Amino acid sequence: MKALCYTRPLEIGEFESALEMQDVSIPEPTEGQLLVRMRASSINIDDIHIAEGTFLGGMQKSRASKEQPSTPGVDVAGVVEKLGANVSGFAVGDEVLGILGPKPGRGAWAEYCCLSAVMALKKPAAYSFAEAAACGVAGKTAANAVTSAALQPGQTALVVGASGGIGSFIVQILKHQGVRVIGVCSGRNAALVGSLGAETIVDYTRGPFGEQLGSLKVDVVIDCVGGRDVEQQGLRVLNRQGRFVTLVGPHSFIGETRIGTSGIIGYLAYVSRRSMLSRIAGPRYLMAGIGRSLESLQKLVLDNGIKPPIDREVPLETEAVRDAVAHVRSHRASGKVVITIAQG
Ligand SMILES: NC(=O)c1ccc[n+]([C@@H]2O[C@H](COP(=O)([O-])OP(=O)(O)OC[C@H]3O[C@@H](n4cnc5c(N)ncnc54)[C@H](OP(=O)(O)O)[C@@H]3O)[C@@H](O)[C@H]2O)c1
Repeated sequence: MKALCYTRPLEIGEFESALEMQDVSIPEPTEGQLLVRMRASSINIDDIHIAEGTFLGGMQKSRASKEQPSTPGVDVAGVVEKLGANVSGFAVGDEVLGILGPKPGRGAWAEYCCLSAVMALKKPAAYSFAEAAACGVAGKTAANAVTSAALQPGQTALVVGASGGIGSFIVQILKHQGVRVIGVCSGRNAALVGSLGAETIVDYTRGPFGEQLGSLKVDVVIDCVGGRDVEQQGLRVLNRQGRFVTLVGPHSFIGETRIGTSGIIGYLAYVSRRSMLSRIAGPRYLMAGIGRSLESLQKLVLDNGIKPPIDREVPLETEAVRDAVAHVRSHRASGKVVITIAQG
């Protein structure tokens, strides 16, 4: 089968140019796995970080080699071709979506991949394969962030990075829950974020969003960008009883650099100190992760028919995917970037 691969451990910035198409064997599903004939995957910023060994600051280095090429990609959408032992709830021919683990190896940017049945869901008929692939990591992370935010209808949330892969899901889920949304994005994406449900848009290129909002207060800030500046501006606009929910923490877009062991320790210490102290004197500081189960993705995203805006779809071809990865790396994608896999 065709699979995009890289064949050596990569330095920061090398991922796109290292991608090459290879002919590799179709994987065999082991116990609890589905072999999926792929129809679409998506590109997440963390696919780049995993390949370049900067995932979570650098805790997991890829051991890719010529003998053991690594295929990137964790978001899966396709058709079940074969079942491993002891799989229940799925049959050959089912249309599914799901998420692979972040360990570098046999990923989803290929014609087939093996997906654990516990990380698979039946694809709703109303979703195309491209839409389903774009829902995986981004939809699940968004659903977990919204769950941590614990908002009531009529309350107000401010979403930083509202036009991005995750932020665009968050805005829609909140809108669906009857929450009033203020979206922070560049002016270029104002119309998109408005169309997703934000009542007010703040263009961060015109100055810090907290200053622009003046004395306005919100119940929750959900931060998809990270960094101390975003936190400082977030605290400025939050009610004392409010919540600052971050997906990224004190380093903006963590994974852009290799921060090493001491950097990770400092990062974790900051997050745990902030969340502990915020219990005593609010607003609460919460770090939202991707979570383990797919329940929140099913309930908050798929059951409500929430679909991601798709910035672009590219075929599973080396040059097209290289360009698309560079676009995702730039943090300028509006919504999700999807790879489609032709049949035959
Ligand atoms: N906690 C977890 O489990 C988890 C899971 C997955 C991902 N993440 C992290 O979540 C972050 C967001 O991921 P994503 O896929 O949504 O990224 P993305 O698609 O690249 O989104 C970035 C968005 O942020 C906006 N942006 C850039 N700089 C900004 C700023 N200073 N202020 C406000 N908005 C800004 C951009 O909007 P404009 O183009 O309009 O400027 C862009 O739309 C990444 O750092 C990723 O590593 C965390």
